[in-house]
Amino acid sequence: WILMATGRSPTNIAVIKYWGKRDEALILPVNDSISVTLDPDHLSATTTVAVSPSFPSDRMWLNGKEISLSGGRFQSCLREIRKRACDFEDEKKEIRIKKEDWENLHVHIASYNNFPTAAGLASSAAGFACLVFTLGKLMNVKEDYGQLSSIARQGSGSACRSIYGGFVKWCMGKKDDGSDSMAVQLADEAHWNDLVIIIAVVSSKQKETSSTSGMQNSVETSPLLQYRAQTVVPSRVMKMEEAIKNRDFASFAKLTCADSNQFHATSNSVEYFYWQVAYTFDAGPNAVLISPNRKTATLLLKKLLYCFPPQDKDLSSYLVGDKSIL
Ligand code: DP6
Repeated sequence: WILMATGRSPTNIAVIKYWGKRDEALILPVNDSISVTLDPDHLSATTTVAVSPSFPSDRMWLNGKEISLSGGRFQSCLREIRKRACDFEDEKKEIRIKKEDWENLHVHIASYNNFPTAAGLASSAAGFACLVFTLGKLMNVKEDYGQLSSIARQGSGSACRSIYGGFVKWCMGKKDDGSDSMAVQLADEAHWNDLVIIIAVVSSKQKETSSTSGMQNSVETSPLLQYRAQTVVPSRVMKMEEAIKNRDFASFAKLTCADSNQFHATSNSVEYFYWQVAYTFDAGPNAVLISPNRKTATLLLKKLLYCFPPQDKDLSSYLVGDKSIL
């Protein structure tokens, strides 16, 4: 027999960034972060996991290519989910798996991203959130979303926020074992429906420095990092929660841009900007623009298309996702 489960998780864009770990192995951050989870139709990972007594080992394929599962992060996620697996019986009562049997059953995992992998668009966030969620479904794990987010965190920090839709906060937690470092939903996807996120993909090449090593380097060398984590981010997080609660775009945009700027260790002086749109950059070169409504988003897109006209006039290859916006 073979048993399968499929799940889909969108990526998320941090508006208050996670940058720096206090524990590399458990992936514990030095500050709280807040993100917006995208619509699953647009940028998401789709993962199918299968289990069968005939599989001799765990294997995984990413976008059709087999990848190694030897990395500690995959192993942590698999181990944590296996630990919490429960008795399973299918509807026809043909397949019965006891809690303790999951340890000896191997999985095959196939995952697809519908957007460039590792170009700084948080593909690891969607990927690990989806992996943990789908494995949990397959193995009949009964944990709540908070616990699942804490497991996804051990795959990639930002993945813990993709377990929820809408606006999500990753609470850094205080405990050394990381059990209180998990995501909570601040508001669901319907809360601020007018917001439109435009991602200007200027390069879909794999980024040269991974977030993992980039932030490691910052922790070791940046004099700004601890100041940012301890002094700046805590009050920014509070203000951002308030801005989201009140759908206050001016404050939201100001905080988002200021945090992107500080994360990139450039200037913090964005006070004189007229807040019609917010921008934020992750670790790759691609710009993420957040507009307060569809009308402004349409104007912005038209301007972008005017400034950077597509070579072949074929908008379908240039504009993915919601085309009705034009
Ligand atoms: C700039 O979650 O990819 O996107 O935990 O080492 O896997 P690891 O890093 P990752 O870092 C994301 C960094 C960021 C900001 C953010 O998403 O908060």
